[in-house]
Amino acid sequence: MPVIGVINQKGGVGKTTTAINLSAALACRHNVLLIDLDPQANATSGLGLLPSSSVYDVLSGRSAARHAVMRARQQNLSVLPASAELAGAAIELDASEEDVRLLAKALTGVRPRYEFIVVDAPPSFGALTLNALAAADQLILPVQCEYYALEGIAGMMDTIDRVRSALNPSLNVLGLLLTMADQRTNLSRQVEDNVRAHFGELVFEVVVPRSVRLAEAPSHGMPIFEYAPGSAGAVAYEALAREVVQRVSEA
Ligand SMILES: Nc1ncnc2c1ncn2[C@@H]1O[C@H](COP(=O)(O)OP(=O)(O)O)[C@@H](O)[C@H]1O
Ligand SMILES: [Mg+2]
Repeated sequence: MPVIGVINQKGGVGKTTTAINLSAALACRHNVLLIDLDPQANATSGLGLLPSSSVYDVLSGRSAARHAVMRARQQNLSVLPASAELAGAAIELDASEEDVRLLAKALTGVRPRYEFIVVDAPPSFGALTLNALAAADQLILPVQCEYYALEGIAGMMDTIDRVRSALNPSLNVLGLLLTMADQRTNLSRQVEDNVRAHFGELVFEVVVPRSVRLAEAPSHGMPIFEYAPGSAGAVAYEALAREVVQRVSEA
């Protein structure tokens, strides 16, 4: 039952889209918990959920994780939702050992119930992201197919190395995921070639294409498999789930 963090300090690279659709794809065969750790609560609203309590209550000790977990419409998919209050946690918590381990501690009780736990991290490098990194066993780094992609990854890898030695020695990068690829442009192909040349097998084989369907689905509160089954985005995230299961089993 690995905890998989979906991490990138940059916003708008496809973290939430990946967290939602990977969780939904995994939930077809596995019992899955999606944790929304972003105060913007996009993963929560993207699944059409209106939570009464949130991961904020869990981090602040007001609620046990199992009480804050909600069921999504999809079978086998549960969500530990976010709320705007979570922005408070980002300020109240600091980088102390105790504060950054709050999520990991809160999860010990519920971990055995799920085969996969996916954490959608916020686009910043603060206490919430540190909580995700302390709780995770595996990381997926979405990388948007754009010109400065490589520089961004180098910075992320340095950060992960530091977290590994200071906080979580078992933290492993499961893979880099190329997102929002526009297969009609040379730029996307060049970025893909570059990232693969540098990171080799660490890069997932599947590339998530830029797709209007993927962007529309959250406004309907649906994963891509419900909103546009069979679309290119749905096919890509199904393939990602297969690769994730394979890589986790080999890890
Ligand atoms: N493959 C894609 N094709 C088209 N739009 C996408 C794709 N992935 C994400 N988006 C859109 O891009 C924006 C940022 O994606 P999001 O997953 O929220 O990124 P992050 O969580 O990293 O900030 C959102 O509006 C989302 O709907
Ligand atoms: Mg997000």
